[in-house]
Amino acid sequence: MHSIAVAGHLCLDIAPLSAERARIDPGSLFEVGPLSITLGGSVANTGGTLADLGAHVVPYATVGDDELGELLLSKLASEGFAPPHLSVSPSLATSYSLVIEHSGSDRTFWHHTGANAGFDGSAVTPDAHDLLHVGYPPLLPGLLDNSGQPLHDLFARARSAGVTTSVDLAVVDRNSAVGALDWDSILTSIFLHTDIATPSFDDLTSAFGIDEAYSPELADRFADRLLEEGVAIVAISAGQHGLRLRTASTERLLAGGGILAPLAESWADRSLTASPLPVEHPVTTTGTGDASTAGLLFGLSQGATPEQAIALAIACSAAVMSGARATRDTVLQLDSTVTAIFSPNV
Ligand SMILES: Nc1ncnc2c1ncn2[C@@H]1O[C@H](COP(=O)(O)OP(=O)(O)OP(=O)(O)O)[C@@H](O)[C@H]1O
Ligand SMILES: [Mg+2]
Repeated sequence: MHSIAVAGHLCLDIAPLSAERARIDPGSLFEVGPLSITLGGSVANTGGTLADLGAHVVPYATVGDDELGELLLSKLASEGFAPPHLSVSPSLATSYSLVIEHSGSDRTFWHHTGANAGFDGSAVTPDAHDLLHVGYPPLLPGLLDNSGQPLHDLFARARSAGVTTSVDLAVVDRNSAVGALDWDSILTSIFLHTDIATPSFDDLTSAFGIDEAYSPELADRFADRLLEEGVAIVAISAGQHGLRLRTASTERLLAGGGILAPLAESWADRSLTASPLPVEHPVTTTGTGDASTAGLLFGLSQGATPEQAIALAIACSAAVMSGARATRDTVLQLDSTVTAIFSPNV
C-alpha cells in the first residue's frame, strides 16, 4: 500500500454542546452540555478521510509543549493514522478553535493559530512516502517567508525523490498579515513543484484578489493558470457547483512522481466536471473540500480513472455534508460506481 504524508494545519476543535442559549453576559451562568473535543484542520480532515477510506496516512504537524498537544497526539492514535511526526514548539501553544453555536445563526470560531505558525516543513521526510499532501498554506505562515520559499523547498525535495506533491489552499483573509503578502509570487513559486492542486474557487478568488462570482469560465481561467504554472492535475471545488478537473500533458504527468507517472496516459489532457450528489439532510458544509481532496488523492493512489476519482471525491464530500465519516461503506452506499477503486484490479 502507498504511504501518504499529510502535512500542515492541525488543531483541536473544542465545542460546548447544547449551548444554543448561552451568550457572553458578565455575571450570568448558563447551563450547557458536555464538551466535544475533535481533531480539526486539514491534516485531521483530509488525512482522516484518507485513513477512513483505507489509506496508510502519516501526519506531520507542529504542536505546543502542553496538555492540548498530548491530547491531540492521543486522538491521532485512536483515529486510524500511522504514528505521527509531531514537532514540538518550545514557545507556541497547540492550535485550537473554540466553536460556539448560536441558535438560529452560523457558528462562531475563536481560532488560535499557535504552533501551526511554527510549521516550516523542515521536519518532513518526503522520501519515506509516495505522496506528500500539504494543507492550508494560508494558515501556515512558517511556509510563506520569502514568497513561499520553505514550501517551495519542501516540494522541491519531495519531487527530486520521485514523491508526488499535492496542495490544498484555504481562503486568504485579505485583512490579516498573511493577506498582505504577495500571493501571486507565492503561488507561482509553489506551483512550480506541485503535481496536484485542489483549491476551492473561493480560495483562488481570495488569493488572486479577484472579486467575481462563480462562473465555469472563471474556474477554467484559474485552471489554465495553474496548469501553465506547472501543476499536473487541478481540481477546483465550488460548493453547489461541484468539482472541475483539468489535467496537463502526458509528458507533465510522467514527471509527476510515483503516483502520477503510471497514470500518465489515462489522465493526460482531461477536462471533466462533476455535480454534487444530492444530500437529503445537510448537516454541514465545513470540511467538504478537505473530503473531496481525500477522495481524489485516494483514487489516484489506487490507480483509478479520472471519472472514478472525481466520483469518489464527490461522494466523500456528500458523506461529510450529511454528517457521516466518508468510510468505504458510506461512499459505496452513496455511489456504487466507485466500487472498482477499492478492488486491487483498478
Ligand atoms: N452548498 C452545497 N451544495 C451542494 N454540494 C456542496 C455544497 N457545499 C459543498 N458541496 C460539496 O462539497 C464539495 C466541496 O465544497 P467547497 O468547494 O465549498 O469546499 P471548501 O470550501 O474547500 O470546503 P472546506 O474548506 O470547508 O473543506 C463540492 O465540490 C460539493 O461536492
Ligand atoms: Mg477547502
